[in-house]
Amino acid sequence: MTKFLLALLGFTLGAGFFSIAFGVAFALIGGFIGWGIDARTKSFREQAAAKSGAGPAQAARIRQDTAGAASAETQAEIAALKKKYGAWLLVDEAHSMGVMGESGRGMVEAASVEQDVDFIVGTFSKSLGSIGGFCVSNHPELDLVRYICRSYVFTASPSPSTIASVREALRVIQSKPKLRTRLWQNATLLYQGLKDLGFEVGPDLSPVVAIRTPSRETTLIAWKALLDKGIYVNLVFPPAAPAGMSLLRCSVSAAHTVNQINCILEAFSELHHIMTERE
Ligand SMILES: Cc1ncc(COP(=O)(O)O)c(C=O)c1O
Repeated sequence: MTKFLLALLGFTLGAGFFSIAFGVAFALIGGFIGWGIDARTKSFREQAAAKSGAGPAQAARIRQDTAGAASAETQAEIAALKKKYGAWLLVDEAHSMGVMGESGRGMVEAASVEQDVDFIVGTFSKSLGSIGGFCVSNHPELDLVRYICRSYVFTASPSPSTIASVREALRVIQSKPKLRTRLWQNATLLYQGLKDLGFEVGPDLSPVVAIRTPSRETTLIAWKALLDKGIYVNLVFPPAAPAGMSLLRCSVSAAHTVNQINCILEAFSELHHIMTERE
């Protein structure tokens, strides 16, 4: 990708970019995005449906960004839909950069669809352990975003120390593929271990393992019990989870040892009775 933007946060860049690409301000760069003047009044989904003659369900699929680490098959399927309907494709690699693909470039590398993707956004705050975000593209018009994306224009640039740490983290990702191998071994150990214990985990194997819990109260009780054993996991409630759903989210790294993962599995097994009972 030849053009890039950097920002203080992946979220603000992604949200600002989305509002331009798929929202009201979109017509300003209508030629560039390719949906024409209709963009002023119609959502991307409506335009996709009108342009392609596809039903709303198909159009919705085209719009789907791949936040979270979508499987290579899903990614390839979305790229094929994009080609079929002449849509533009933006991929959020927040959860997959440094983690997926032979050289760690993410989902699009894993699915061999890099040439089909128009925009890639991502964050420095996950695998790179820093802060900030980026958007890259081969479209020269990406430069226009510098002037019309409000969340980009009206904020400071990332600091030199941030950029230096991101560059170093990228160097590590590129030069130490063994870290990725160990990461996936650890992720598999935890994901499969929790599954074997009877917990409801997400559909796809990933270094972020989400465990569904029966209720908000149970989630808090389990979270505290794990913390008391020295295990920190994230609490996920709506709106971060779908309405009515609560999750515990474990993040596995290449630095975890097999012993540590076994300890985590043991701690979860002690919570099995409260975590699996249904309301
Ligand atoms: C899918 C996804 N995209 C983008 C972001 C934004 O990242 P940040 O604002 O931390 O740079 C996040 C953060 O959690 C995310 O999960």
